[in-house]
Amino acid sequence: MKNNDKIESASPYILPSLPYADNVLVPVISANTIGFHYGKHHKGYVDNLNKLNSRNGVCEPDVGENHHRDSRQSRQTAIFNNAAQTWNHTF
Ligand SMILES: [Fe+2]
Repeated sequence: MKNNDKIESASPYILPSLPYADNVLVPVISANTIGFHYGKHHKGYVDNLNKLNSRNGVCEPDVGENHHRDSRQSRQTAIFNNAAQTWNHTF
């Protein structure tokens, strides 16, 4: 494996730059609305995905199998929801 073949695992989800000024859609959509959905919602979903990804494979040592399964399902649901909202806000 070469150095440039290295797999990056830390924070793989990146908030892309907004490809237009936040006031370009005024008066239909305000800069405040764009800023809210981009700077707060979109950024939040990307940050959540990175947090969920950083806990990949982590499990608590003294919990029962049912708790472990429920925890895994909750995490998968959280990943799905945050990925879906990231896609939605990217679109
Ligand atoms: Fe939003």
